[in-house]
Amino acid sequence: MPAPEAVRVAIQRDADIVAARQRGREMATAAGISGSDLTLIATAISEVARNILAYAREGEILLSVESRDGRCCLQVIAADEGPGIADVELAMRDGYSTGKSLGLGLPGARRLMDEFDIVSAAGAGTRITMRKWAR
Ligand SMILES: Nc1ncnc2c1ncn2[C@@H]1O[C@H](COP(=O)(O)OP(=O)(O)O)[C@@H](O)[C@H]1O
Ligand SMILES: [Mg+2]
Repeated sequence: MPAPEAVRVAIQRDADIVAARQRGREMATAAGISGSDLTLIATAISEVARNILAYAREGEILLSVESRDGRCCLQVIAADEGPGIADVELAMRDGYSTGKSLGLGLPGARRLMDEFDIVSAAGAGTRITMRKWAR
């Protein structure tokens, strides 16, 4: 059975994070990604999904295989309609947290993926788009 072109995982509870990680691995494999990159992707997905639960309560992870100039990537979009982030630059710094956690989730995800873009504003929800390219 061929892999689907896009998968949506609703994020509403802890078990959904596990599902998003697993589907991310499957979709990444379909994009031609292998080895330790699968673990890096699963970790990045965990972090943004955990943030959805912690700060927005619910949202979704959209996974798709994209291609450009004959190369494939896994694209991960994490979207929610929660409170948003007033100062995105601050939130992207190592160690910044409004919760009681380490503040390494967003900057960590950025380092683990090849591309990372975040659009967020207070009251306007958060949308993160990340990509990892097949080598
Ligand atoms: N989806 C989100 N909605 C609202 N705020 C968020 C979201 N994701 C992250 N944040 C904010 O950015 C901060 C940094 O996130 P992160 O780097 O994952 O660290 P941590 O989750 O440990 O606090 C969070 O403390 C929170 O204030
Ligand atoms: Mg976090």
